[in-house]
Amino acid sequence: MPSSNASADASADASASSAGTADADASNGPLLPLIDQYPDTNSFREEVVAGLQRTPKSIPSKYLYDERGSKLFDDICKLEEYYLTRTEMQIMRDHVEEMAAAVGSGARLVEYGSGSSWKTRILLDALTDVATYVPIDISRDHLLEASRDLATDHPSIPVQPVCADYTTDFALPDPPPSAARTVVYYPGSTIGNFRPEQAHQFLAHVAQIAGPGGGLIIGVDLRKSPDVLVPAYDDSEGITAEFNYNVLDRINREIGATFDLDRFDYTAEWDPDRSCIDMQLVSRDDQQVQVDGVEVSFEAGEAIHTEYSFKYTLDAFAQLAGRAGLEVDTVWTDADDRFSIQYCTVRS
Ligand code: AVI
Repeated sequence: MPSSNASADASADASASSAGTADADASNGPLLPLIDQYPDTNSFREEVVAGLQRTPKSIPSKYLYDERGSKLFDDICKLEEYYLTRTEMQIMRDHVEEMAAAVGSGARLVEYGSGSSWKTRILLDALTDVATYVPIDISRDHLLEASRDLATDHPSIPVQPVCADYTTDFALPDPPPSAARTVVYYPGSTIGNFRPEQAHQFLAHVAQIAGPGGGLIIGVDLRKSPDVLVPAYDDSEGITAEFNYNVLDRINREIGATFDLDRFDYTAEWDPDRSCIDMQLVSRDDQQVQVDGVEVSFEAGEAIHTEYSFKYTLDAFAQLAGRAGLEVDTVWTDADDRFSIQYCTVRS
């Protein structure tokens, strides 16, 4: 799921790794009250080493999104084969007035994994009165840049960026007393990057954050033919492959590992039983890699799992949301039913 940090951030990370409030550098835009809960480098090292020692091997997908990974992901979003972003943007444009009516006036809008906040702009433009906008992302530079741009374009909306790994415990700023309700915004079908049990936990957390009277606007990619799905995750320009290789490069740079990227192949496969695309880096031969003093052995054909992308039917998502204490109120889709945006309320 999206989140990250960059090598460029690395030197600042050590000093800013604990929870607290820091003023952002205002040289590129308005001064924003950044709440910095950037995870320390040790969690990256520990989680990577633990994942590579497991069978099957895996790397948490949040680590794909360092500075370079976030930029590559932005490039993926512009690819012809990656239908998700433009389809979701079109659904937003077509139905934003209804979405704004569902959010209502005076809401606190909290966005998980805000990234470049492209889609949020469509929503914010349609909202008449926003108590505060709280973008949360692990990629600090990316978060600050997007937040500053947004605050410049919407001077009447208080923007409170939070740099955090939202898959772990983190703190949100208190809602302003004037906030009528909390609405969580979770676009992009990032929910698909969680395994079902993690998706359940995340939605239950969202239900708790939104609270009674609150809601969730979520983008959910729909199950469809592998002829459409597989190219979306294995594009002809090789950008998605590059995005995946980047995590090995990041591990080499940040924890001094010895991955030779040329000895791995990128694969994206559709599993119809799990309704999931599995992204993996597959070792081309038997090899040993040093990772922070630990020797990791690969057999030829052995994979490192890098990311899941689960695809839902409308029924399957409604059931998942229902188990987490949410009720699907409205579903907006495109003409080909490729993608959905859903407004869920918190069940009282
Ligand atoms: C962020 N997330 C919704 C993307 C997806 O479609 O699952 C991540 C991605 N990974 C490779 N391509 C896109």
